[in-house]
Amino acid sequence: MIDQAENLRQMVQQKTTNTENKPEKGTKTRIITVSSGKGGVGKTNLSINLAIAYSQIGKKVVLLDADLGLANVNVILGIIPEFNLYNLIKNNKSMKDILIETKFGIYIIAGASGFSKIANLDDEERKRFIAEMSELSFADIIIIDTSAGVSNNVLSFIAAAEEAIIITTPEPTAITDAYGIIKIISTELTEHKIGIKLVVNRVKSVTEAKKVAQRVVNIAGQFLNTKVDYLGYVYEDPIVQNAVLRQRPFIISDPKCKAAICLKHIVGRLENIEYKDGKGVGSFIRNFIGKNG
Ligand SMILES: Nc1ncnc2c1ncn2[C@@H]1O[C@H](COP(=O)(O)OP(=O)(O)O)[C@@H](O)[C@H]1O
Ligand SMILES: [Mg+2]
Repeated sequence: MIDQAENLRQMVQQKTTNTENKPEKGTKTRIITVSSGKGGVGKTNLSINLAIAYSQIGKKVVLLDADLGLANVNVILGIIPEFNLYNLIKNNKSMKDILIETKFGIYIIAGASGFSKIANLDDEERKRFIAEMSELSFADIIIIDTSAGVSNNVLSFIAAAEEAIIITTPEPTAITDAYGIIKIISTELTEHKIGIKLVVNRVKSVTEAKKVAQRVVNIAGQFLNTKVDYLGYVYEDPIVQNAVLRQRPFIISDPKCKAAICLKHIVGRLENIEYKDGKGVGSFIRNFIGKNG
């Protein structure tokens, strides 16, 4: 097993060196996962609109749908993908084949519903996935929309990235589950530092958002000795549901709605937050191997 992981590392090394002149000099891809303990709290909607908000400030953004149970980024964007992650891993399609340039200003990689075993790929498949990931180093930002909960799949992606956004709503069950996933990140994924960030979705007021955030931030600090950055909140806004029904992201269809303004603030916070240059796709790949190799 160690030998195989070492082979992969060497292969990635070569691959990432070969493509190193692709991104602008001095800039490395920033990779952010979006996760939650509880399902249905708004990960996919926030990932999509966050990705678009980022592209609107001039960044090249790739949104990877890593929810391998309920992949639906493409559904919310009204896109019928020809190929998805499954075709890359199982059918020898390349990243270029499956990467979709959308009219919304972002690239997406469609997920593969019902394909839940990415952490249990065989060697050949894992090699392909890893080798092809390095094709994404042209991006300034990669946002990874994961499944809810703490399956191996989810943890592999979180462990490979440098930053994890955890979404909760004010519901007590969502808060408890957010704490649960933060606990696992801080106690089990300890090989490198993962910047944990919190977004409170579906709030009715700033005060409500602050209360929820303070609870999570305080408990994580007190019991886990873990710093959680409160990134911001998103208002409960009926436009979000309408956007899903119309399959058009709200930040495009209603750029002035309450939810859209909140997303723009979150991008502002992410840009201002203490953040050293991303380590890039090469590092993501090495960490992914570390977890699965
Ligand atoms: N800020 C919000 N305001 C109103 N409804 C929301 C908001 N965020 C999410 N929703 C609702 O929750 C549903 C689930 O969101 P989704 O992004 O698919 O969650 P997840 O990816 O976490 O499962 C959406 O279809 C929408 O109806
Ligand atoms: Mg989702």
